[in-house]
Amino acid sequence: MQLLGTLPPTYANLSVEEMETRIQAVKDRLGTRLFLPAHHYQKDEVVQFADATGDSLQLARLAEQMSEAEFIVFCGVHFMAETADMLTRDDQIVVLPDMRAGCSMADMADIDQTEIAWEELTERFGEDIIPITYVNSTAAIKAFVGRHGGATVTSSNAHEIVRWALEAGERILFLPDQHLGRNTAYDLGIPLEAMAVWDPLREELVAEGDDEQVKVILWKGHCSVHEKFTVSQIQAFREREPDRRIIVHPECTFDVVQAADEAGSTSYIIDKIDASAPGTKWAVGTEMNLVNRLAATYPHLDIVSLNPFMCPCLTMNRIDLPHLLWALESLETDPVNIIRVDHETTEFSKRALERMLAR
Ligand code: 13P
Ligand code: SF4
Repeated sequence: MQLLGTLPPTYANLSVEEMETRIQAVKDRLGTRLFLPAHHYQKDEVVQFADATGDSLQLARLAEQMSEAEFIVFCGVHFMAETADMLTRDDQIVVLPDMRAGCSMADMADIDQTEIAWEELTERFGEDIIPITYVNSTAAIKAFVGRHGGATVTSSNAHEIVRWALEAGERILFLPDQHLGRNTAYDLGIPLEAMAVWDPLREELVAEGDDEQVKVILWKGHCSVHEKFTVSQIQAFREREPDRRIIVHPECTFDVVQAADEAGSTSYIIDKIDASAPGTKWAVGTEMNLVNRLAATYPHLDIVSLNPFMCPCLTMNRIDLPHLLWALESLETDPVNIIRVDHETTEFSKRALERMLAR
């Protein structure tokens, strides 16, 4: 018996060569009927077949433009494929090669918890709160945000959108990544004392000052990959190699981002490294596959991970050659692992996504 969404045994023990040949054959056969985007955190074995690579914002924009493709086989995680489905036409099929490729951060905010938080927070602070969600969230959360006049953000446009929201409302609720929310709001001049944290498990708000002071309410969620980077790792590099530049993703904690030389989205990290002078030394605080790829792509630079034990995103890494081959070979007969968001959720989510994409 085959469990729904699990890899059939016939795909489990193929040679790499055979899988690569068969993947290329499907790509050749389908041509422009197929679009295969891959996030920067995907494995090299997958990226080699990508029609485009990008950060979350670039991939969302590409999904919107891919009107020609009948099939979009999304090599990334579940929330990215959901976003692609919502931004494409109903007759386009979005597939996630492995349904287990979720995102632990996105799972830290569910819709019931969000409704409870909203009720408590609007009772306490009044209705003038703009909800903002990182795209690393479920479609249900995006729909909630769209329904309440808010927008999505990615790590590359968070400043712009949070600035808009702070001007448009008295307060913002930022889901689900407290670190991206804190790092962004702080950069925009909001002091830490004006930020409170909503704990969805305890259903309580932790604030330092009194309620009048609170401008930003951060959801208590985080990325388990980026939380592994620490200030002591940065200090160790500073002591050993003061000339090594430290660049991190803004999903890292506030202290890490403050201690680093640079912080930005995956595309920002790539662009900074790409523009650096030969011989520049970098310690990079982001997912392992991207760090390894950067080190291989720029041999004239000295690139290492900020964490000597590296930090893989287990769910991103679920997409591999066997799952990609299975997903592709099923397209022409009976597509597997289709991601389909219902109409109502899509309608409201699109309001939040479009507020972001229009900027
Ligand atoms: P970006 O590519 O937008 O920087 O996102 C990083 C990430 O964690 C995706 O899950
Ligand atoms: Fe989610 Fe973090 Fe993995 Fe990105 S790196 S998909 S935020 S768990």
